[in-house]
Amino acid sequence: MSTAKSTIKKVTTQKLLELKEAGEKISMLTAYDYSMAKIIDEAGIDMILVGDSASNVMAGHETTLPITLDQMIYHAQSVVRAVNRAFVVVDLPFGSYQGDSKKALRSAIRIMKESGAHGVKLEGGAEVKESIKRILSAGVPVMGHLGLTPQSIYKFGTYTVRAKEEEEANRLLHDAQLLEEIGCFGIVLEKIPAKLTKKVVDRVKVPIIGIGAGEHADGQVLVLHDLLGITKEFNPRFLRRYMDLFDGIKGAVERYITDVKSGDFPNEFEQY
Ligand code: KIV
Repeated sequence: MSTAKSTIKKVTTQKLLELKEAGEKISMLTAYDYSMAKIIDEAGIDMILVGDSASNVMAGHETTLPITLDQMIYHAQSVVRAVNRAFVVVDLPFGSYQGDSKKALRSAIRIMKESGAHGVKLEGGAEVKESIKRILSAGVPVMGHLGLTPQSIYKFGTYTVRAKEEEEANRLLHDAQLLEEIGCFGIVLEKIPAKLTKKVVDRVKVPIIGIGAGEHADGQVLVLHDLLGITKEFNPRFLRRYMDLFDGIKGAVERYITDVKSGDFPNEFEQY
């Protein structure tokens, strides 16, 4: 049976690789809810990340650490319901995969089974190798994440640019090659020097998606609420804002309040 949904060409891991090989940049954004996911999928975004940045953006926490696996699954379910085309990746939250590969597999399987997402992302290199291998053994596509890995913020102490020194840069290069070798379909590089991103892109065949990692990445990801100007107070150099939605929404709500208070809303045409 053919449905409207089934006629849409969905983005797959194979398609992402083809985009890299063809030199076409990959577009990726975060989403955490049905309404936003529907808009960005219809706009033609290639990948949607149900990021653990939901912990900051949706729940107001200072870091990504508090968000739970159940909460990530709730966000992922809402996003998947909206999406017809994009490849949907879900972050494994802090504490759901580190140091215990069997737990990592159980967490990834819960995400895949309960949300219908297409893959998972987790932070780290050699130290999470066993977890990645076990998840991959179940046929779940895994995306890596290197550079500034926000789940380790208390180790780093700051959200500043990573891998500026040779030792950390070499470790990152080695980790990127390792992630490719063990079978990750792609890697996010966060907040590292553009020159280092170029080295990774040249050495690794899988798509490299950057955030604050410069122009050489095979694709770019941003947090949707940053791009839309909802999170006004967050202003890193790498962020390009396409709207000023905080003030736009605030202005609309202020006008609504004025209209309600003055009795202007509803008018004779807005009632039964
Ligand atoms: O959770 C998130 O939004 C992310 C992006 C910053 C890549 O991991």
